[in-house]
Amino acid sequence: MARKSEFSDSFQSTKRRRRDFDDDEVFSAEEQARFEEMRTEFDDAPNDDGPPAGDRWTIWWDSEPLQRGPEPLPDWVITDHGAVDYELGVLKTGKEADVFLIERAVPDTDRAVVLASKRYRSAEHTQFNRAGDYTAGRGAKRSRDVRAMAKRTTFGLEQAAGRWAAAEFDALKRLYVVGAPVPYPVQVLGTEVVMEFIGHGRTAAPRLAETRPDEPELESLWEQACEALRLMTEQGFAHGDLSPYNTVVHEGRLVVLDLPQIVDIYANPLGHDFLARDVENLGSWFTARGIDRQEVDDLQLELKAIAAKP
Ligand SMILES: Nc1ncnc2c1ncn2[C@@H]1O[C@H](COP(=O)(O)OP(=O)(O)OP(=O)(O)O)[C@@H](O)[C@H]1O
Ligand SMILES: [Mg+2]
Repeated sequence: MARKSEFSDSFQSTKRRRRDFDDDEVFSAEEQARFEEMRTEFDDAPNDDGPPAGDRWTIWWDSEPLQRGPEPLPDWVITDHGAVDYELGVLKTGKEADVFLIERAVPDTDRAVVLASKRYRSAEHTQFNRAGDYTAGRGAKRSRDVRAMAKRTTFGLEQAAGRWAAAEFDALKRLYVVGAPVPYPVQVLGTEVVMEFIGHGRTAAPRLAETRPDEPELESLWEQACEALRLMTEQGFAHGDLSPYNTVVHEGRLVVLDLPQIVDIYANPLGHDFLARDVENLGSWFTARGIDRQEVDDLQLELKAIAAKP
């Protein structure tokens, strides 16, 4: 990070004070004028606008209240105005998004938390063209967005990426509040979803597909999978892409990930098919390891009954 001049440092601290009091402080005309003057001077100065440490200022306050995680906030969520985000590296690059590891920290304190940051791509090679099946019944209200998405313009791709991020964040929120095993959704901003990192230190929890559970562990994980599916179905959702690759196991606990394509069982004409496929995709992994096939069939029937209720 470039060394900042004294002037820049004093500008930074002024800026931070302003951020701290953003909500209610009214500045005098004289103070306003001074800020404007400093801003102009600062714009001319060769320094960047970044934080004194870290890779960016925390983006917590850049999200609207509805784009932040549900209350009560877990105590590890850092909301300080002076916090900074560090980029720790890429966790996984995927077809539609890349998952990064970040650390949000309060400088000069020992308060820091590692988070997962999923960033949707707006690049041409994403697979938004197959998105129609999933989003049937969801309704893109702003017709300009719809037309742009159809034309696959840069604007459209950016909008689509933002929509996927918003959809995943909303799904995480709805499921988290009913106690489903999903990461706590910290915030969404544009094409980025920041969520609880499931893992130890900086090491991500293994995907279900990578685990070798013994018999009692297998039973426990299967029970948890059934419960997660019940909760989702009761909320009127099918995951839409459930698999042993989109679930991880952390300290014996099954956590479901990757929810942007969540399907509204009632609005989507293929809703029941998506639900059945989710159960089959996860269920077949369990039956291959010793869970009785009958249990998967029973779960299919049970969920079908739940989904049949209006
Ligand atoms: N919150 C998290 N905590 C820990 N690991 C995570 C988290 N989110 C994602 N990961 C890891 O990153 C991988 C990719 O995440 P996710 O499935 O959400 O993205 P994706 O772009 O859809 O990937 P893919 O196209 O491979 O399905 C997961 O399989 C998991 O290993
Ligand atoms: Mg995935």
